[in-house]
Amino acid sequence: MKVLDAEFVKGYMRMANDGWLEGWHERNGGNLSYRIKKEEVESIKEDLDMSGEWREIGTTVPKLAGEFFLVTGSGKYFRNVIINPEDSICIIEIDETGAKYRICWGLVNGGKPTSELPSHLMNHEVKIAAKGDSYRVIYHCHPANTIALTFVLPLTSEAFTRELWEMATECPVVFPEGIGVVPWMVPGGRDIAVATSELMKEYDVAIWAHHGMFAAGQDFDLTFGLMHTVEKAAEILVKVRSMQPYKTQTIKPDEFRQLAHDFNVTLPEKFLYEKQV
Ligand code: 13P
Ligand code: ZN
Repeated sequence: MKVLDAEFVKGYMRMANDGWLEGWHERNGGNLSYRIKKEEVESIKEDLDMSGEWREIGTTVPKLAGEFFLVTGSGKYFRNVIINPEDSICIIEIDETGAKYRICWGLVNGGKPTSELPSHLMNHEVKIAAKGDSYRVIYHCHPANTIALTFVLPLTSEAFTRELWEMATECPVVFPEGIGVVPWMVPGGRDIAVATSELMKEYDVAIWAHHGMFAAGQDFDLTFGLMHTVEKAAEILVKVRSMQPYKTQTIKPDEFRQLAHDFNVTLPEKFLYEKQV
């Protein structure tokens, strides 16, 4: 089968375009990676070029040796993925040491995978260790409301989780583990990848202060839906804060406990502290 005929590639492109339509991908902002299933790799093998040169990832991901990923190209625009996928995205294979990759398809006009490849791959590796084989998608975007909040909320998991949980009753059900926060760091390298992947051991969402957000999930729907839910909650909080300095009422700790009980999710007590509305 041709790569562009595969269902997982169509799903990937649709998600990239949905992110563009949400306004989360100005210019080349954001990047998306999908860990391709073995049977999916087999189904497109005839369309892959296995003669590419091995290049350094910039970190090591030994648990991903031999895995294939569909990733966006560095400097490529999400708005172009759907109209020119062969120029905008690529399939890479990881070598047996987990230190190198080679391009097997795509980026036909040259280029390399996203500059955030170390973060994507280290997050995938952490998710395999934490969740087994189920997690496949890592998504990074630049959603304006979440970024705006990183200028006014304390840069802690406790503050972001609790404030966003309060903004929509579904939030604690959609992200019961909470949200991680990485302080401002230089993007595109191993250091921020280490910090992010450390948080991904516990959370499926990591906010990068003054930059954007990472989300991890089992498939395109769940990962996009998670990002969408967090950003929507952030948008509500931005609106609430724009109307008045404090809320006059909100969802209280005991009400979250009730919700957790009725929806059968565990909400860690560390997020249910007593505080002003
Ligand atoms: P890339 O174009 O290299 O993917 O970088 C975009 C980005 O969002 C960096 O954080
Ligand atoms: Zn970014």
